[in-house]
Amino acid sequence: MAMPLTWEALENACRNCTACGLSAGRTNVVFGTGNRKADLMFIGEGPGEQEDLRGEPFVGPAGMLLNEYLTAVGIPREDVYIANIIKCRAPHNRDPEAEEEDACLPWLRRQTALVKPKIIVCLGRISAKRIIKADFKITREHGIWYEKGAYRMIATYHPSALLRDPSKRPEAYRDFMEIAEAYAALFGKERP
Ligand code: URA
Repeated sequence: MAMPLTWEALENACRNCTACGLSAGRTNVVFGTGNRKADLMFIGEGPGEQEDLRGEPFVGPAGMLLNEYLTAVGIPREDVYIANIIKCRAPHNRDPEAEEEDACLPWLRRQTALVKPKIIVCLGRISAKRIIKADFKITREHGIWYEKGAYRMIATYHPSALLRDPSKRPEAYRDFMEIAEAYAALFGKERP
């Protein structure tokens, strides 16, 4: 299908998508939220229970933790754009199947082309494997910058992984500091 060119048409088409089986089980499509002109874009994995119910990314427990990190490094959540690899919840939050990711990625590609962020942050392994490189190893390669086309990219741990294993939180904090510095550098100013 040819991707709609405007935000409105894109969002409408996405909300009616039935390209994979996950559409049958969703309450809401979780399209993406935030600043559509953001320099900084976060890409997670897929909606959890709260996101499915509310139709917005990162509004459940993982989202609360993401908010804490953003606040800690001085990045206002409303400055950034947030989306996911898949837009419908997978049963019991299982990992998405490759075919589900393939079916959903054209939406994200078009969103990214419209936002034109300068920096993309992958939240977690699933996102980093799809966006940065297929053999991405989150434990070894989080916090490292990659250049791809017009984008600078970096991955950090998924907030859900940090909820399960708080021992990784200091590393994630360092990643967020790194992201905040790069983001501030875009405007030529320092951040806390
Ligand atoms: N986890 C994700 O990857 N995305 C969300 O939107 C919520 C939880």
